[in-house]
Amino acid sequence: MRLNKYFLVNCAKLQNTLYKLLAKTLFIGKELYYMPTCHSTNDEARQKSINAAICEGAVFITSDQTKGRGQRGNTWFSQPHKNLTLSIVLNPIFLGSDEHFYLNMISSLAVKMCAQHFVPEAQVKVKWPNDVWINERKIAGILIENTLKGSRISSSIIGIGLNVNQTHFTETKASSLSLASGTTFSLPLVFEKLMLAIEHYYLMLKAQKYDELKSEYLSHLLGFRVKRTFRAEHVFTGEIMDVMKSGLLMIKTQQGERSFDFKEIIWL
Ligand code: BTN
Repeated sequence: MRLNKYFLVNCAKLQNTLYKLLAKTLFIGKELYYMPTCHSTNDEARQKSINAAICEGAVFITSDQTKGRGQRGNTWFSQPHKNLTLSIVLNPIFLGSDEHFYLNMISSLAVKMCAQHFVPEAQVKVKWPNDVWINERKIAGILIENTLKGSRISSSIIGIGLNVNQTHFTETKASSLSLASGTTFSLPLVFEKLMLAIEHYYLMLKAQKYDELKSEYLSHLLGFRVKRTFRAEHVFTGEIMDVMKSGLLMIKTQQGERSFDFKEIIWL
């Protein structure tokens, strides 16, 4: 018998050992695709969305992602069975294409909320546009891929890599919940908390609480109103003053306030 590569996790035996269908959420993770291994959960989510009707809130999760993709065409490495690597499918048709950054805000705030819950003593920060850092080290990355229908966002795949129990990294600026706390965590428990947090912020977005979301995002933003060094066409110091709904970063420099797109600036 050939097994389908997806296991729709609705069998009691699997539920006890792997990620459970979520009992406490309204719609996130009610359709849950667990794959023991896959190349990229974002690619699996996209492929499945093309081939079949899937519900808003469907989650694709794997224990061993072999070709994880990151921002700027980078690769996302995650040690098998140690971390969360997953993608959530949303249909934010109420958002215009010029408002896509609200998806970055809600997903980074959700990861931040989840990490803060498990490591309450640490200062968890969001690094623009949507990384999550603890003690100046990155613990999570998010890759958002949108599909447009006219000028609206018809579908969004939110891919999250959250380092949970991995303790060795080749990348010096990488960390995990475990390294930040000295504790080992239950992946299903972290998963549940993360999904609840995603739902919480997505419902806020649906309820058009734009100002609340933005001020919460700015209040947790690394470097907000603090002098930092950046590199664009040259190295300069400046203070982050704002982030636009399109995602542009507004920085006060000695030459006045300037806006930067994601590809135009690097933190030093
Ligand atoms: C980054 O910081 O560069 C973003 C990393 C995003 C990684 C996640 S892991 C789950 C999902 N599947 C992917 O291929 N990438 C995202």
